[in-house]
Amino acid sequence: MFVASTYSKKELSTDVEPDLVIFHANELVTMNTKYGAPRIGEDMSELAAISDGAVAVKDDIIIFIGKTEELMSKYEFRKIPTKIDATNKLVSPGFVDPHTHIIFEGTRENELSMKLEGMSYLDILKSGGGILKTVRETREASIEKLVTNGKKILDKMMSYGTTTLETKSGYGLTTESELKQLRAIEILNEDHPLDIIPTFLGAHAIPPEYNDKSDKYVDLIISDMIPQIVKERLAEFCDVFCEEGIFSIKQARKILKAAIRYGLKPQIHIDEIVDTNGALLASEIRAIHASHLLKSNEKGLKAIAETGVIAILLPSTPFCLMLNEYAPARKMIELEIPIAIATDLNPNCWTESMQMIIALACYNMKLSPAEALTSATINAACALQKQDEIGSLEISKKADILVFDIPNHDFLPYHFGVNLISKVIKNGKIIVDSNLST
Ligand code: NIG
Ligand code: FE
Repeated sequence: MFVASTYSKKELSTDVEPDLVIFHANELVTMNTKYGAPRIGEDMSELAAISDGAVAVKDDIIIFIGKTEELMSKYEFRKIPTKIDATNKLVSPGFVDPHTHIIFEGTRENELSMKLEGMSYLDILKSGGGILKTVRETREASIEKLVTNGKKILDKMMSYGTTTLETKSGYGLTTESELKQLRAIEILNEDHPLDIIPTFLGAHAIPPEYNDKSDKYVDLIISDMIPQIVKERLAEFCDVFCEEGIFSIKQARKILKAAIRYGLKPQIHIDEIVDTNGALLASEIRAIHASHLLKSNEKGLKAIAETGVIAILLPSTPFCLMLNEYAPARKMIELEIPIAIATDLNPNCWTESMQMIIALACYNMKLSPAEALTSATINAACALQKQDEIGSLEISKKADILVFDIPNHDFLPYHFGVNLISKVIKNGKIIVDSNLST
């Protein structure tokens, strides 16, 4: 739950005593938003880092950020209850994972051999596998089971440094089971330390009962699902999987326009497998963000650059689909499109680790380590419209802070495939401490 700070900026700069400090950070990446939020073009490399840096926290918010020397002269150090020595360590804002599908039942490891035999994602879906297999199992699952599954994923995400995430419904495809998924998200949001931004994705696949009458399903989404979800305040965003053979541009436009009328924020999966001119639609409806964009054409990319739609790139998806093609991230940066990155955690592509995503973004999409870290923090916060509370380390923002067992941010993709986290601080509390794990 996002709660506004109880301190004014002026109060914070004077006599509030911290209850937690981090000091002597070798590299303290602040992602200070004075450079504009979200960062674009060359500013994506600007980490606003401080050497020998320090942060002070009171309750759940940041009250000081600067050099260790300044921290020591400002506060009576020995009186501070929790002190974290970050010598030789990297300190950064918590990761924000802005595109995930964590609420599901059943797994799809069997599809790996199908992919190895050359079956495409859409072939697997057409044969009743893929999303539709997960839909069958999720419909049968109790809400308690979905919460248990989700909690396991959240615990792992947290251990790898994610402090806020977006997640979606979309494996129910009936009003009742879409509501069940969103209620499971609501329960997790209340019970788990991580903050979750909920998205309604009733338009994730055409349910088998609506084969050959997808327009009727679109009507059900608009006339039944959206009004109930809004009434129960179960979602902040509405998403559509707009793709050849799934939801068309026309259907996506209709759903998202209805969602906007109901006060939901629009986002969209576009141009993942085929270029359907999804980027043009994302720009037309002023989507807050659009995901995938592997195949988006130049005209579409220029349109989203102009309207400021944030591109969420998901490098683990082509990786898991064994495609040798990734979203054109360098071109997007050249066009000054704001970029964020996400895990896209789902039963086809299962990783909780934003560290893994940073590595994939660098090695396969050619982002620099600095650009990848920007995409995983401040720009990801902007993609969820939460940049006033999270995504950077600044006075009066939430104390969501990562301490890594590495000296600088270049190590994030360099030393890959292992967990580099030393401590995770969420809302001012240490929730992960690698020194204490067995
Ligand atoms: O973003 N593309 C649509 N949705 C997910 C995949 C969901 C699934 O395969 O279960 C994605 O990649
Ligand atoms: Fe997705």
